[in-house]
Amino acid sequence: MSKVTVVGAGKYGSTTAQRLAEWDIIDEVVMTDIVEGLPQGLALDMNQSRPVIGHKTLVVGTNDYADTSQSDVVIITAGLPRKPGMSRMDLLEVNAKIVKSVTEEIVRYSPDAVLIVVTNPLDQMTTLAADVSGFPRSRVFGQAGILDSSRFAHFISEKTGADIQTVQAVTLGSHGETMVPVPSLCRIGDQALTEVLDPGTIDDLVDRTRKGGAEIVAYLKTGSAYYAPSAAAAYMAKAVVEDSGENMPVCAWMTGEYGIEDVYLGVIAEVGAGGVKSVVELPLTDDEAAGLAEAAVAVKEKVADLAQIEF
Ligand code: APR
Repeated sequence: MSKVTVVGAGKYGSTTAQRLAEWDIIDEVVMTDIVEGLPQGLALDMNQSRPVIGHKTLVVGTNDYADTSQSDVVIITAGLPRKPGMSRMDLLEVNAKIVKSVTEEIVRYSPDAVLIVVTNPLDQMTTLAADVSGFPRSRVFGQAGILDSSRFAHFISEKTGADIQTVQAVTLGSHGETMVPVPSLCRIGDQALTEVLDPGTIDDLVDRTRKGGAEIVAYLKTGSAYYAPSAAAAYMAKAVVEDSGENMPVCAWMTGEYGIEDVYLGVIAEVGAGGVKSVVELPLTDDEAAGLAEAAVAVKEKVADLAQIEF
C-alpha cells in the first residue's frame, strides 16, 4: 500500500493532498495539522468529490501522528507565512520550531519515509529537517525549482504565444535572489529560447520569475501562492512513489557536483524511490556556473542563521 502524508492542512497542504488524491496513484493520502477539525473537515469534503472526479484515493484527516505511520513520503508544508512587522529572522525562528517538532514526529512514525520540504525559508527548513531527522540526505529534499521553472515557462509561453507544452524552462540555485535561470538550456520546441527572444526580453521574464511569489502575494494581500507550488510538491511525491527516475529541479544536497558541496541547492536531480538518486550536472555557461556558485555561498550564509535559534 502506498501512503503519502501532508503535514499542514493550510492552502498549500490541502491543495497538495487534493492533487495527489485526484491523480489516483496512491492508496491513501493523510493530511495532518495542529488545528483540530481542519484536516478532518477538508478530507471529508475531498472524499465527497470522488464520485464526480472518479478517483479512488482516500484522504484521511487527522491531528494524530499515529495515523501517518509508515508513510512512503511526507510533505512538510506546516508553518506560518511572513506577517507584517515580522523580520526574516522572526519567521525563521517560528518556522524552524514548527519544522523541528514536525520532523521529530515523522521520524518516530515513518522512519523510512522520503521527506519533501516546502515550508519557507526553504533552504534553511530543508537543512533543518535533514539534520533533525538524521535521514540520509538523499531522502530529504526541498521544493523550489519545479515551481520557478514552471513560472518561467508560463511567462515564456505568454510572451511568445508558444504552446505551454512545448516550452522547456530551466532554473537552478534557489528561490528569490539566489535563483539562477539557465536561458542557454531553455527551449521552445526545437528552438533555443535565445533564438526566439532578445536578451532584454529574457532578462525581463527572468526578473518576473524571480519575483513570481511576491507578484501573487501583492494581489492576494494575505497568504501566498499555492496552486503552482502544490502542483510542484505533488509531482515530486509522485516521482518517488512511482520510482519514475525523472530528472527534475529540486533543492538537493550537494556532494561535489559543479564543485559545490555540503549545502542544499536547487539543481536538476534524478528523483525516484528513496528520493534523490543523483544530481545531474548540466553544461552551464561560465556566467550560469558562477551564478550557481554564488547561490551556494548565499545559502550557506543563510543556513548559518539556524545556529542562533534556541530550540
Ligand atoms: N503542525 C502541523 N501543522 C501546523 C503546525 C504544526 N506544528 N504549525 C502550523 N501548522 C499549520 C497551520 O495550522 C496551517 O493550517 O500549517 C498550516 C499553514 O497553512 P497556511 O497558513 O495556509 O500557509 P500555506 O499557504 O499553506 O503555506 C505553508 O508553505 O510556501 C510555504 O511560505 C509558505 O511556509 C509557508 C508554507
